[in-house]
Amino acid sequence: MASGLVQWRAAAARRGIAVRELAPNIGVELGGIDLAAPEDPEITAIIRGAVVERTLLLLRGQQHLAPAGYLAFARRFGRDMDLHSRRDLCLRDHHEIFVVGNATEDGKPIGAPKVGLNWHTDHYHLEHAALFTFLHAVLIPPVAGETRYANGIAAYEALPEAMRARIAGLRVRHSRARLYRELFPDATEEQCQAEAARFPDVVHPLVRTHPESGRRGLYLGGEWGSQILGLPEEEGRVLFADLLAHMIRPEFVYEHGWQPGDVLMSDNRCSLHRATEWDETLYQRRLHRIILLDDRRPE
Ligand code: SIN
Repeated sequence: MASGLVQWRAAAARRGIAVRELAPNIGVELGGIDLAAPEDPEITAIIRGAVVERTLLLLRGQQHLAPAGYLAFARRFGRDMDLHSRRDLCLRDHHEIFVVGNATEDGKPIGAPKVGLNWHTDHYHLEHAALFTFLHAVLIPPVAGETRYANGIAAYEALPEAMRARIAGLRVRHSRARLYRELFPDATEEQCQAEAARFPDVVHPLVRTHPESGRRGLYLGGEWGSQILGLPEEEGRVLFADLLAHMIRPEFVYEHGWQPGDVLMSDNRCSLHRATEWDETLYQRRLHRIILLDDRRPE
């Protein structure tokens, strides 16, 4: 791992930032950082080092973080922000912030309730896929509605040597068109066709090298829209299912039970995540999502 990234634990200790691992192979919480405060470059470096090493970072107690401050925080890590094609599901004054969940305003739904109920990496359907995703918890049901994360590097490193050799050099086709209807069952036919025209299929490596840590990891894309190439179709399907089942084994996964004010930052270059259901007849859930896009293609 690059030396700047190795130093984050020492810097955190020096700055009095508490560090707590969330699960053995994924996730870390940094305590006492106020994301609304003006930027401190050393804190930014600590956050980046932590998320690259642990794949997932938790920062609690950010209830007071307004959308503009949240965007300014995310911009410290990259400039290219996703602007979702469903403008109606984004904050009125901030197209960069997509609203996840069944919350209502003036009796009308303002977000996408069914987003991400499948294992996926954000925006794997793009040539320049997602770099980091940020989720800010605004309204949280008292039970259920957790989000699960899986670490593709830890999963890859635990594969038997024979499997690593078998999958070396394989590539995966990712189809946004296939995924879109599953994600947005309420979308009109016109929206579906516009989405398919806007995002032709892309092909990425099945195993990619993390550009900052140099470690190799599984890059599966998503269980609803990805297909391994170069093998007979059924063999590719079974291999994809086997690798997914391996990557989401409990030892590579962390399940986050949300508290209002939580911010989770995940590294899409080496992880999968998925939402879980909650009782929508009883409770509202509202997360604000920002996705930063990578300026490099997966390799
Ligand atoms: C997502 O995949 O963007 C949503 C995650 C969640 O709702 O828990």
